[in-house]
Amino acid sequence: MNSVVSALEVILADTYALYLKTQNYHWNVEGQDFKPLHEMFEKQYDDLFEAIDVVGELIRGLGSRTIGTFGDFSRLTNIKDGNKDASATQMVSDLLHDHELMGQTLGKALKVAQEAGDEVVASYLGSRMMVHRKTSWMLRSTSAK
Ligand SMILES: [Fe+2]
Repeated sequence: MNSVVSALEVILADTYALYLKTQNYHWNVEGQDFKPLHEMFEKQYDDLFEAIDVVGELIRGLGSRTIGTFGDFSRLTNIKDGNKDASATQMVSDLLHDHELMGQTLGKALKVAQEAGDEVVASYLGSRMMVHRKTSWMLRSTSAK
C-alpha cells in the first residue's frame, strides 16, 4: 500500500481514539474544576472530530478506501483506552501524554509525506502538529501547580 496512506491510517486511528477518550472524559470528569474541564474537553473533541473527516478524505483523495471500524482503529492506534473512573488530574495528564504522542506520530507521518513529495498531506499534517502542540500547552498549564 501507498506509504502516505499507511501513515494517514495511523493518524486517523489515533485521532478517532483520542476523540473517543476526550468525550469520555468530558462526560465523566468530576470535582471542583468540573465546568472548565468539561468545556475544555468539548472544544478538544470538536477539533478532533473535524480532523477525523479531513484525514479520511485525504485517504480517499489518494485513491484508497478509508478504514472506518472500531476493529481497524483499535488495531492501528497508539492511544490507550480512557478510564472513566480516573480523577480530573489523571484525565488531564493522560490527555497531555496523548497529545504529545500524537505530535510525535504526526512528525513521522509528515516525513513520510515529504519523502513522497506530497505537499498537500505534509502541510495538513504540519497544521495538525500545531494544534496538538497548542493543546499540549493548555493541558500542561491546566495541571501546573
Ligand atoms: Fe456534552
